[in-house]
Formats: sequence, structure tokens, C-alpha cells
Amino acid sequence: MQFELTEEHLMIRQAARDFAQNVLKPGVIERDEHQKFPAEEIKQLGELGFLGMMVSPQYGGSGMDAISYSIVMEELSKVDASASVVVSVNNSLVCYGLEKYGNEEQKQKYLVPLAKGEKIGAFCLSEPEAGSDATSQHTTAIDMGDYYLVNGTKNWITNGNTASTYIVMAQTDATKKHRGINALIMEKGMEGFTVGPKENKLGIRGSDTHSLMFTDVKVPKANRIGEDGFGFKFAMATLEGGRIGIASQALGIAAGAYELSVQYAKERKAFGKTLADLQAIQFKLADMATEIEAARLLCYRAAWLKDKGLPYAQAASMAKLFASETAMRTTIEAVQIHGGYGFVKEYHVERLMRDAKITQIYEGTSEIQRIVISREVLK
Ligand code: CAA
Repeated sequence: MQFELTEEHLMIRQAARDFAQNVLKPGVIERDEHQKFPAEEIKQLGELGFLGMMVSPQYGGSGMDAISYSIVMEELSKVDASASVVVSVNNSLVCYGLEKYGNEEQKQKYLVPLAKGEKIGAFCLSEPEAGSDATSQHTTAIDMGDYYLVNGTKNWITNGNTASTYIVMAQTDATKKHRGINALIMEKGMEGFTVGPKENKLGIRGSDTHSLMFTDVKVPKANRIGEDGFGFKFAMATLEGGRIGIASQALGIAAGAYELSVQYAKERKAFGKTLADLQAIQFKLADMATEIEAARLLCYRAAWLKDKGLPYAQAASMAKLFASETAMRTTIEAVQIHGGYGFVKEYHVERLMRDAKITQIYEGTSEIQRIVISREVLK
């Protein structure tokens, strides 16, 4: 066992850190306030190879490991979780699934531009009545011979409007329950495919979250991923990796709030001393630092297991559960340390607190992570 990052990991971390500070930070408050998607910033992240990080170079990706991905997610999320969620969804829920389960034709047509960052992808599982209970898909994909006829609505879709390529889970044979679900690749512009209005959210306000409506959309059979009925397993397997991404996002949000708090505590004077001289503040910072380090180790462990080809579902859920709860606790304390300044936008911590909340909800709530973990524990 060794706890050191490699030279390559350190270089990737520096590149992501520089990008976050120099490119993401200047406009982050404005994008949050006006719900503005970081389009130019995402384009640049694509050029850096961060949108197809783990995809093999053969398919336009950067061929990096999952630990590098976790590192990049942490650094970007310290500053802008609205941008990092795009990185997470594109890498984990779209590119990974296409590379692992797609056929050669699908990889050439869809994966290559996504991995190069020329296009953005979306993962469409949630519905108005199917969030945590993901097996209850109401969107239907009726088998019409050489195509599926798709009808239904998807909710809370990250990259809902900016994406060009959508992986949509839909029920083909309800009698088979989750074994009758298919994963279909859909394209924006297909007849009958409409994008609903942008959601007005508490956090990650720069990200692009929409509902999608499908009315008699014809999706070629060639766009089905895997065998007939593989869609639910596809979604679950893909979400395992996604949870490493969101765990690392939560870690980054916590670490970002912590770093701002340390800096503020050293500068701010009260009672004739700096805040950093007060034990009440020192203890808060000590707790934050300890929880963040524990969250980081859980993220790296889950990523390491994935890189080794070992089972990592439980490790990913542990990382996501702990890191997202850490993000919430840490950001609340960061606002407290900043006092009144923490309550205004210029000091960044109120945004990080709002952004932290979604990490306990998307890609499986904290309760879902506990289900995954306890099933393994009790197996
Ligand atoms: N890999 C492969 N297959 C898996 C799997 C995995 N990790 N987990 C479960 N499966 C398979 C099971 O083997 C089973 O298949 P068989 O019946 O053929 O053996 C099938 O899936 C059903 O499994 P369960 O019986 O465990 O299903 P369940 O109904 O009890 O649900 C659950 C399990 C963990 C609660 C699951 O529904 C779940 O994860 N829910 C949360 C969904 C979620 O995370 N949604 C997030 C939306 S995406 C998002 O947020 C993206 C974004 O925009 C940022």
C-alpha cells in the first residue's frame, strides 16, 4: 500500500487547479446568479482532454485512470460545481457506458466526438415518478421492428439542453419489469424530441437541467446499447462509476469551502486576534480537515478498485455517502466561520453550501447509497 500520488497525478492536479483558478473562478458568481451555462469553459475543458478522461485514445479520449478523474473532479469542484457536473456526467455516465457496453459503430459515431469534447452527452434515467425507484420507468420504447417508438418524459436531466447525445432508459416490455428496460442513444433534433424549460435550482445553477419530452420518437434499433432488456443493468453499472465522480465533486466542494475558511481565519481579526487564534475556530478547521481527508481516501480507494478491475459498487457508494455528507457539514461550518460575509455571494462559501446539497441527492440519494452499502454488508 502506498499513499503517494504519481508524478502524472500531480501534473494533472496542477493543470486542473490552474484551470479552476484562472478560467472558472472569474465568472463563477455571475454564472451562478444568472444561471448561465459555462459553455466556453466546457469547450476548454474538452480541449484539455477532461471530458473523455478515461476513454482510450483509440476513441478520442485521454486514457487516464479513475484516480486522475477523481483528482480533476475535486479541483474543478473547489471552484465551480456547475462546470464539474458536466465533466462528471460526460465522463462517467455517457462516455464510460458507451465505451464499455456500446458496439464499434456506436463508439465511432457517438463516443469519439463526446470523448474529444466536441459534443456533450446526457444520461436520462429519472422521471417524474421514477427517481430513487429507478425500475419504475414509465417512458416506453415499443419495438416496431427496425426501430423503437419512444414516448414519455424524463426529469432533472443534467446537460438537458446543451447535450447532443442522450442515453435514454425506456421500458420495452413491462411484463419483464426491470429486465424489459432498454438503453437507447437518442440525438437532439430527432422528430418528437423536445426539451422543457430550464429548472430554477437552489445550487449548481450554472448547470443546464431540463425535462425532456418524447412523442413518438423513432429510434433506430442500431441505437440500443447491449442486448434487449439490458438497459437497467446498464444504468446501474454506469452509475457505479458516476458515484465516484459525484463523491469527488462533493469532496471538492468541501475542500474549496475549507481552504477559503483557513484563509479567512488567518486574515480576519476579532477580539484583538485573528480567528485562527481562537480555539473555537481551530476545532472547526480540525474537524473539517479530518473529514475531508477521510472523504478523499474513500474516493481514491473506490477509483483505485475501478482501475484494478475489482468490484467497486460498495466503495463508490461509501465514498459518495461520506463525501456528500462531509460537503454539507463543511460548507455550513464555512459559512459560520465567515459570519455575515459568509452569507453574501462575494465570499463564495454560500454558493458552495447551496451546491453541496445536490451531492446528497443526484446519482442516488444518501439513502440509496446506504441501501447499496448495507446490501453488501448483509450479503
Ligand atoms: N451493476 C449491474 N447490475 C446491477 C447493479 C450494478 N451495480 N445493481 C443492480 N443491478 C441489477 C441487479 O442484478 C438486478 O438484476 P437481476 O434482477 O437481473 O438480477 C437489477 O439490477 C435490479 O436490482 P435490484 O433488485 O437491486 O433493484 P432495486 O429496485 O432494489 O433498486 C437501487 C436498486 C439501488 C435502489 C436502484 O434503483 C438505484 O440505484 N436507484 C437510484 C437511481 C439513481 O441513482 N438515479 C440517479 C439518476 S442519474 C443522475 O442523477 C445523473 C445526473 O444528472 C447527475
